[in-house]
Amino acid sequence: MNSQMIKKVLVVHGPNLNLLGERDPAFYGNVTFAKLNEMILDRADALGMQCEIFQSNHEGAIIDRLQAARNTFDGVILNAGAYTHYSYAIRDAIADMQLPCVEVHISNVQARDDFRAKSVIAPVCIGTIAGFGINSYFLALQALAML
Ligand code: DQA
Repeated sequence: MNSQMIKKVLVVHGPNLNLLGERDPAFYGNVTFAKLNEMILDRADALGMQCEIFQSNHEGAIIDRLQAARNTFDGVILNAGAYTHYSYAIRDAIADMQLPCVEVHISNVQARDDFRAKSVIAPVCIGTIAGFGINSYFLALQALAML
């Protein structure tokens, strides 16, 4: 990725993230999904990046979107939700798209249920940002901006 060029970033939200604002605020805060997306677009704009946002509750739809991103985007920010912990199909899609992908979590997945401590997608991502609430997404934008 050329740091002089305007970067095109795809943000992908996985299952249940569309219910942000209603999900347990102790883990996910109070900001609604619509508001979060507005904030992501604002931050991307401030960083001089173009940004597109996609959400799906379906594994195959997420894979389709990642495959389509292949020649169109410079980087991807992915919160795969619970798929993080067991979807080898999403892991393969990340590896195959050959784009820098930042794994994001709103909550600190290491400090929750045991099954959340394992990410099967982490090895094919350039890095993971977790536990900073919705700021995790903004930090991920910054990480991609700095590449
Ligand atoms: C999450 C953490 C996952 O374990 C969980 O299944 C989610 C959200 C997060 O952003 O903290 O749905 O990815």
